[in-house]
Amino acid sequence: MKSIKQLKNVKGKVSLVRVDFNVPIKDGVVEDDFRIKKALPTIKFLIKKGMKVVLITHLGKGGETLLPVAKALNKFIKTKFIPEIISENVSKAVREMKNGDVILLENLRNDKGEQSGDKFFAMNLAKLADPTLSGRAGIYVNEAFPVSHRDDSSIVLLPKLLPSFAGLQMELEVKNLSKVMKNPKHPFLFILGGAKFSTKMPLIKKYLKLADYVFIAGALLDDFLKDEGYEVGQSLVDDENFGIDKILKNKKLILPVDVVVQHKDSLINKKVNEINKDEIIIDIGSESVEMLKPYIKNSKLILWNGPLGKYESGGGVATKEVLKLVAKSKAESVIGGGDTVEIISEMTNKNFSENKFSFVSTGGGATLDFLVNGTLPGIKALK
Ligand code: 3PG
Repeated sequence: MKSIKQLKNVKGKVSLVRVDFNVPIKDGVVEDDFRIKKALPTIKFLIKKGMKVVLITHLGKGGETLLPVAKALNKFIKTKFIPEIISENVSKAVREMKNGDVILLENLRNDKGEQSGDKFFAMNLAKLADPTLSGRAGIYVNEAFPVSHRDDSSIVLLPKLLPSFAGLQMELEVKNLSKVMKNPKHPFLFILGGAKFSTKMPLIKKYLKLADYVFIAGALLDDFLKDEGYEVGQSLVDDENFGIDKILKNKKLILPVDVVVQHKDSLINKKVNEINKDEIIIDIGSESVEMLKPYIKNSKLILWNGPLGKYESGGGVATKEVLKLVAKSKAESVIGGGDTVEIISEMTNKNFSENKFSFVSTGGGATLDFLVNGTLPGIKALK
């Protein structure tokens, strides 16, 4: 990947920057601006180079406006929001930009072309930076690691139409996540939570080889406990057989010994063999957190992806406790996964922030894919 640090003689040119401002929004207000903040160094870098910065991003599955995002971004950098993607209005606004100006266009997924691999959609976007597609007028920057596992037009087609570069956060993501895969320090503890068993299975298999210990929690745990023969009550389990039986025999695997279950309106800490038919597992228990302590203390590298409990149902206690333990430990710590990051943001105060970890990835699904494959379609397209 070519880095934007290599840019020369770009003053006055347009930089079409694919960011990922797919952020949680409630009542028209951005709830977590982590991804926006992480794109700021790249935007500022391009402004300093005297470029005209045109930001493009998706939000959700399409149909939503980026107005709340524009408002959140404006707190950091003066940005003009144009609620259109490809139109004469947009072209005119880009032509009239002065060096150092920033424009944000409307949600890319509001146009079907973004997700259908439409070459003309990509071409029309490219023309904003380089109207005759001469290859000399403007550039493309991918600062959208979290969506670089998708084949969306702005991720895989656009970089083929303009000179293309990786943003600063994109570079950090690749550097830090590659380090975990290619040259991990030992003892290496991998903590995996969250849900979606099918997407996590390759990760579990890979890290049972690379890491020294793999701790499984979150909704994934329900499947493991069920396969071990325990009652899991009303907890969500996958019907598919993912080959858990084989994994259960692996000595590197660590499973929680107790859980918090929801019983009617109350939450009860129980051993894994005490769960009743009418209960739902919502978190790992206090004994399991204690059990994790020496592993965390002795690790030189901790990789963590996904919450340990069902956060949305009140199962965030263990995640917060373990995050504090990891933050305090001397281990190099790499944290990924959208939900875990939201919890860190929520916990942030003057004594605790993402700076307590060695690296916090902006990606969710993209981080998981990268941790398995060591690259992503959007990264390959930059080469
Ligand atoms: C994310 O939030 O993980 C990315 O923005 C990708 O979003 P998607 O899963 O809707 O493609």
